[in-house]
Amino acid sequence: MCGIVGYIGYEQAAPLLLNSLEKLEYRGYDSAGICLNDGSRLVYEKAKGKLQVLKNLTDNGKTLSGTVGIGHTRWATHGEPSDVNAHPHLSESERFAVVHNGIIENYIQLKEHLAAKGVEFLSKTDTEVIAQLIEHYYKGNLIDTVIKVLSKLEGSYALGVISKDNPDEIIAVRKESPLIIGLGENENFIASDVTAILAKTRKIYRLENNEIAIIKRDNVTIIDTDKEEIQKEIETVNWDISAAEKGGYEHFMFKEIMEQPKAIRDTIAPRIKDGRVVLDEIKLTDEQLRKFTKINILACGSAYHVGVVAKYVFEKMLRKPVEVDLASEFRYREPIVDEKTLTIVISQSGETADTKEAMKEAQRRGSHVISVVNVVGSAIAVESDDVIYTWAGPEIAVATTKAYSTQLAVIYLMAIYFGDKLGTVSEDEYRIYIKELEQLPDKINQILADKENIQYLASKNFNCKDVFFIGRNIDYALSLEGSLKLKEISYIHSEAYAAGELKHGTISLIEQGTLVIALATHEALIGKIVSNIEEVQARGANVIGVACSNHPEIANIAQSTIFIPETCDMLLPSLAVIPLQLFAYYVASLKGCDIDKPRNLAKSVTVE
Ligand code: G6P
Repeated sequence: MCGIVGYIGYEQAAPLLLNSLEKLEYRGYDSAGICLNDGSRLVYEKAKGKLQVLKNLTDNGKTLSGTVGIGHTRWATHGEPSDVNAHPHLSESERFAVVHNGIIENYIQLKEHLAAKGVEFLSKTDTEVIAQLIEHYYKGNLIDTVIKVLSKLEGSYALGVISKDNPDEIIAVRKESPLIIGLGENENFIASDVTAILAKTRKIYRLENNEIAIIKRDNVTIIDTDKEEIQKEIETVNWDISAAEKGGYEHFMFKEIMEQPKAIRDTIAPRIKDGRVVLDEIKLTDEQLRKFTKINILACGSAYHVGVVAKYVFEKMLRKPVEVDLASEFRYREPIVDEKTLTIVISQSGETADTKEAMKEAQRRGSHVISVVNVVGSAIAVESDDVIYTWAGPEIAVATTKAYSTQLAVIYLMAIYFGDKLGTVSEDEYRIYIKELEQLPDKINQILADKENIQYLASKNFNCKDVFFIGRNIDYALSLEGSLKLKEISYIHSEAYAAGELKHGTISLIEQGTLVIALATHEALIGKIVSNIEEVQARGANVIGVACSNHPEIANIAQSTIFIPETCDMLLPSLAVIPLQLFAYYVASLKGCDIDKPRNLAKSVTVE
């Protein structure tokens, strides 16, 4: 979702800002803009559509001079995507410019208040009100004015502000939306996330709520809203820059699919010592663990699908009831959650607004929260009671792959670790789970080595209009992710269905040639899914089966079959998801879709 960048230094800012914005494209956007102080006035350019439009308009930034500036990629919330609604927004006399990520909830009242005083608004955005308020209250001191304006704003914001009068300063502030300050030599940066500045610096300050940064070329001062200076630790980011580059692959999504063996290994290896799972990063005591009567899982999108797998895994291995909730539903349903409930929050970005708010709701009700997060220092990671990081590295493609896989890996680690402590996993089972877990990366490599087979199946099916993913038990949990992967990047309608539920309605949609992807990996239910395959075939379906290599009989039934190596039932989703990701990728590629940046989608959804 919206991306913010800012630069102050001695180089021409515009090309740098455009480069940084390019690194944030993955967050999802529909317009972009930059604004600079050229020494005497604010100069800017904004454009609907891809960043390339803005680059063309400014000859890659060459036409805008100035060594201080701010930039933005906008994902429309208030007002349609258009040049005029694009950020930066300027005040009426073009004295101040603002970029904003978040939502100003009381902007209508503020706008009415200013309009009554004669201020004319150009855009339909909530953000413009901030620029106009700054001008309205300005009496010569920008910091004082920004602090005053903040006191009027309700909602969430990360802001970058520049002024015509001061070519030597950017003001940045955040509340609920992420913002970091990058620290260079005689140059400093602001950005929504580190990928935007990784090429320039690894040293950052991570702004906390209500902290205000005064950024000059050679120093950064951070103050609170009482203007008290805050001493912050400089954080060094250890993400490899190549991890945020395509590295010769055509798409980030493909690169990230291929990185999964490494990402899983990086996530599990440091947590298995001498054959035992060690989760010493969490403070949760054994006594607390034993007292929990229920587990509550909160997440959105693919992270929610990990939660659905986790329900099967935890209920089997921990013998505790598990509820999985879409974070956006949880908050508003009077959930029965208390101090006897362990809450697990799953989020790649750690910034998803719905997930964050659902987490706070669980905490308000007394629940202990363990978060499973990829982005170090993100809001959910910081605000949860415990955090277990996935070590997937930066994930750039909007459609998640390696974050999903590493989230699953953490779920398995937790299940083995907690199962041991609760006495619900025997020593024999424990040994098998560890052995199989450690072998997952190699087995995924075997599947990846056979990707041409999946590419071939994609080439046979990429013109289909509807696809049904079916499965039972943990295969059903995985079918949710397979279906989402396909629809989000290829725009083909697809649905995931519990195979046993088809006959209660959805089977009426099956007709001659309808593609059904049947997940048939769960050993105990092979006979049942075989019957479901026969049911849909009897109505004309074309079935691709996904089965373990010890069940060759699936190939005798399904029109095509993808085989994966064997492992224990609970870990199968980690293997079976790989062909589903590849299938979605190849189908979208054959259809010529914008794979890394699918229409209407954002990587990090920071609005409710
Ligand atoms: C967006 C992304 C999904 C992701 C979901 C939750 O919709 O496109 O890939 O699963 O948000 O994001 P999170 O960062 O909380 O895992």
